[in-house]
Amino acid sequence: MEINIIHNQSCLEGLRNLPEICIDLIFTDPPYYQYRAQDVKGLKNHKDVITEFDFDGFKSEEEYLQFLEQVLSECYRVCKPGASAYLWCGDDFVSYFNRIVERVGFQFRKVIHWHKTNPFPAIYTRKMYANSMEMMIHFTKGSPKTWNHKSVNEMHNFIQTPICMGKERTKHKTQKPLKVCLPYIEISSNEGDLVLDPFLGSGSTAVAAKMLKRNYIGFELNAEFCEIANKRINEILI
Ligand SMILES: C[S@@+](CC[C@H](N)C(=O)[O-])C[C@H]1O[C@@H](n2cnc3c(N)ncnc32)[C@H](O)[C@@H]1O
Repeated sequence: MEINIIHNQSCLEGLRNLPEICIDLIFTDPPYYQYRAQDVKGLKNHKDVITEFDFDGFKSEEEYLQFLEQVLSECYRVCKPGASAYLWCGDDFVSYFNRIVERVGFQFRKVIHWHKTNPFPAIYTRKMYANSMEMMIHFTKGSPKTWNHKSVNEMHNFIQTPICMGKERTKHKTQKPLKVCLPYIEISSNEGDLVLDPFLGSGSTAVAAKMLKRNYIGFELNAEFCEIANKRINEILI
C-alpha cells in the first residue's frame, strides 16, 4: 500500500482498495449541508433572506446519510483496534452522525466544540446568529490506544481559534485551520503512524500529519483541491 499520497478519486471507491486494519487515526471533514441564502419575495436586501439546506450534490438527506454510513463502515474496516477518529459535523447532524458511527461498530466518545473568533459575518441579520461554532465528533474502534495530552486543559472538549487567514488561506471554502487539526492529531497518534482523511479538501490533515512526522493517505474528488493540497504538503520544510 502506497502511503503519503493523495488519491484523486471518491473515497468510497478508494477506501475499498485499502487493506483492513492499517490506519492509526482518522481525521476528516466530510461535505455537509450548506445554508443557501434565498431571496424572499424578490427582495435582494440581505436582511430579508431565509435559508435552506443544500446537500452538495446529494439528492436528499437520506442519500447523504447513507453515503456517509458506507464511508464510515469502510473506515471501521481499515482502522486498527484502538484507533481514534475525528469527524467534523454541522450542528444539525451531530445526533445522526453519533448513531451512524455506533451502528458501523465505533464507540462514540465526545463532541468537541470549535469556537471561531472571527466567523463569517452574520449576513442573515435579524434572522439567525452567526455560525461561530463547529463541532467534531470523536469516536474510537474499541478502547483508545493513544493519548498524548500534555496538560489537563488540552483535554477540554472546546477549542477557540480564528478561521483560516493570511498565508494559510487557500481558495477552498471550508478549509480548516491547522490550529484545529494539530492538537487532535498529536494527542491521538504517534510519530510514524498512518493518518487517513477520506475528504481531504485543501490538505489540512495531511499538512498537519507531515508537520507532526506522521504518515498520511488522503482522498479528494476535486482535482484542483488535490493540486492545492500537494502544493501545501511540498512547501513544508522538515
Ligand atoms: C468539508 S471539505 C474538507 C475541507 C478540508 N478539511 C480542508 O481543510 O481543506 C470536504 C471535501 O470533500 C470532497 N469530497 C466530496 N465528496 C467526496 C468523495 N466522495 N470522495 C472524496 N472527496 C470528496 C469535497 O470536494 C471537499 O473538498
